[in-house]
Amino acid sequence: MKKKVIHYKALSPALTARLDEAFDLEYVDVKAPGGEARLRERLPEAQGLLGSSYKLTPELLDLAPRLEAIASVSVGFDSYDLPYLERRGILLCNTPDVLTESVADAAFALLLATARRIVELADWVRAGQWQASLGEAHFGCDVHGKTLGLVGMGRIGQAIARRAHLGFGMQVNYTAHAAKPEVDERFGARFLPLPELLASCDFLCITVPLSNETHHLLGAAELARLPAHAILINVSRGPVIDEAALIAALQEGRLRGAGLDVFDREPVAPDSPLLQLPNVVPTPHLGSATRETREAMARCAVDNLLAALGGQRPANLVNPQAWTRRE
Ligand code: DGY
Repeated sequence: MKKKVIHYKALSPALTARLDEAFDLEYVDVKAPGGEARLRERLPEAQGLLGSSYKLTPELLDLAPRLEAIASVSVGFDSYDLPYLERRGILLCNTPDVLTESVADAAFALLLATARRIVELADWVRAGQWQASLGEAHFGCDVHGKTLGLVGMGRIGQAIARRAHLGFGMQVNYTAHAAKPEVDERFGARFLPLPELLASCDFLCITVPLSNETHHLLGAAELARLPAHAILINVSRGPVIDEAALIAALQEGRLRGAGLDVFDREPVAPDSPLLQLPNVVPTPHLGSATRETREAMARCAVDNLLAALGGQRPANLVNPQAWTRRE
C-alpha cells in the first residue's frame, strides 16, 4: 500500500506526478477558507508532509501519529519544534544550496536599491517631480569600494561576499562561529568579533539563521555601534534584529537606511512605521522567489521526501538524531 502524503504547497505538474506515482498524494490548500480544518481532518493518515510558510505546531502534529517525515520547501527551519520532532523520531528535511545564489542576488539588489535610493527616486519620477537635474537632497551613496560587514558566513554569506569583493571591490568583514581562512583568502575577508565588525561597516548584511542564540542578536546596543552613515540589510529572519530598536535608530537618523526582506511579523503590518520611512526598502520575503529557484527548491523537497519515506537517508536532513533514533 502506498504511503499517505499531504502537500500543503502547490507543486508543478511534473513534481506532482513524481509524488503521485510513489504515494497516495493529496493537496490541501491551508490558506483557503476551511483549509486548516481539512488539514486537521487528514493528518491522522499522513506519513509524509511537504510544504512551507505554514507553522506545523506540536499541537497540530499530535494529530498525525503515523507521521514519518516532513519535507520543508525552505532552507530555514526556525518554525519547526526540533526537540518535539526528535522525540517523535520525525525526519525534517530542508532545501539548502539551490537558493543560495538567488538570495545573494536579492541581498545585493536591496543593498544597491537602498544606497542609490532607487525605489524612492522611481516613485518621485512617477509622481512627476523630476523637473530638473538632481541635487544634493537626492544623492545616494557609493557602494563600490566600501566595507561590507556580514553577520554569518555560511553559503549565502559567501555568495554575497563573492559579489561584494569580486564585483564591487568591497572590503568584506564578517563574524561567524570561527574564522574561515579559505574565505579570507578568496575574498580578502577579515573575521572580526561582532562589536568591531559593527563599527567597521558601511553596509551590514544579516545572513545568520534564526535560533535562540541569534534572536535579537542586534539590539539597541549593537545598532548604536553602527556608524550613522551605515545601511542595514536583512535577508535572514526579522527577529534576528530587535525591530523596535531598528525603527528608533532609523527614525532618529542614527542609520542611513535599511533594506529589509524579512520582518518580525510577516506579512508586515500595513501600519508598521518601517513602511513610513523613505530610507527603508521593504520587500515581501522574496529572497528565493524566482521561478527557477522555487522550482528547484520544490524538486529538492520532493527528492528528500522520496528518500525519507523510501527508507533512505535524505540528502538534506536537518535532524540526524531523528534518523539515528529510527535505526
Ligand atoms: C527559506 O528558504 O528559508 C527562505 O527564507 C524562503 O525564501
